[in-house]
Amino acid sequence: MAKKTSTSTYQPGRNIEDIQKTYGLKNVIKLASNENPLGPSKKAISAANKMISSMNRYPDSQSSHLKQAINKLISKRNISTDNIIIGNGSNEILELVARKYLNNNSEVLFCKHSFLVYKIISNTMNAKIIESKIITKKGKDFMGIDLESMRSKITKKTKVIFIANPGNPTGTVLSINKIEKFVKTISKKIIIVIDEAYYEYASYYGFKSSISLLNKYNNIIITRSFSKIHALAGVRVGYGLASKEIISNFNKIRQPFNVNYVAQTMAMESLSDEKYLKKSLELNNIGMQFLKLEFKKLGISYIDSYTNFMTVYLGNNAQLIYEMLLSEGVILRPLDNYGLPSYLRVTIGTKDENVMFIKKLKKSLKRLK
Ligand SMILES: Cc1ncc(COP(=O)(O)O)c(C=O)c1O
Repeated sequence: MAKKTSTSTYQPGRNIEDIQKTYGLKNVIKLASNENPLGPSKKAISAANKMISSMNRYPDSQSSHLKQAINKLISKRNISTDNIIIGNGSNEILELVARKYLNNNSEVLFCKHSFLVYKIISNTMNAKIIESKIITKKGKDFMGIDLESMRSKITKKTKVIFIANPGNPTGTVLSINKIEKFVKTISKKIIIVIDEAYYEYASYYGFKSSISLLNKYNNIIITRSFSKIHALAGVRVGYGLASKEIISNFNKIRQPFNVNYVAQTMAMESLSDEKYLKKSLELNNIGMQFLKLEFKKLGISYIDSYTNFMTVYLGNNAQLIYEMLLSEGVILRPLDNYGLPSYLRVTIGTKDENVMFIKKLKKSLKRLK
């Protein structure tokens, strides 16, 4: 049996080598950590290879070129490089938020079943964690963030609100209109983090980023990741967008050389590789349509997702199916850590990986009969 885990310890997806060894398997696929199965952009790889011999040098502590590249990408929105911070993964930015704005006298608010890192960093600062409800009514917003519930949980002590849009592990989205309606009515003293780690996938399905709200609301921080669509999870790089004052606060408390040179270079190259990004999004969409169809045929329900993963309902059999799939060389993500023990999360893989996953899932379901 898999080990039970504490809710405040981040449990990464099992790794391929470990499963190969444990089960004596050659062919193992990992669909557990929402990584882009295509691997990084060729342009990014080639740039990284070229610079490896300069690794005796410290990286640019300002990540200036990467900031300029990001600024260029979002230039229409009156953002300057002073509104940008680069982090060792977007996780570092989330952590800076907690370190700067939370303490043992404050409350932090997020939705139930949110990304576990919010809980971990809030615990580190001894802040009181308040969780709002999710939408449980079946329909297009099923398992989405209930903003009314969130608003009702705000108190004088609330200092930070985390909203993942899209959410992980739910995959649900909020429209910018809903977000603005919410932001408008709450105190400007509360920091609102809108975590857009999966934004590119949602934008493929027509959802808008909250970037345009930055000009109107000084209390918003947007975080983005290079670990998902850009396939750079291993080098650790992400960014945050916020008012100059907030960014300057973060710069005062971050490590001077927080982002390594390879990460800065690969991220810059990847941003400009439009062909690669388009291909990644198209592959993801094809995979998503395939999986949806197969789940329907199998009578398995899933949460509507606007990301590169799907969260499926398997009831009391979820843990057993997770273990059966592991023994067949397919690594998914169990969600008991997230308070969703009846669900499993599957990252959309390459065509071959998706086919193998469905084949092994069918086999596991048959064994259960
Ligand atoms: C919602 C959400 N935010 C942030 C992150 C962190 O990403 P990074 O690798 O940029 O630290 C993840 C990673 O899984 C995520 O799911």
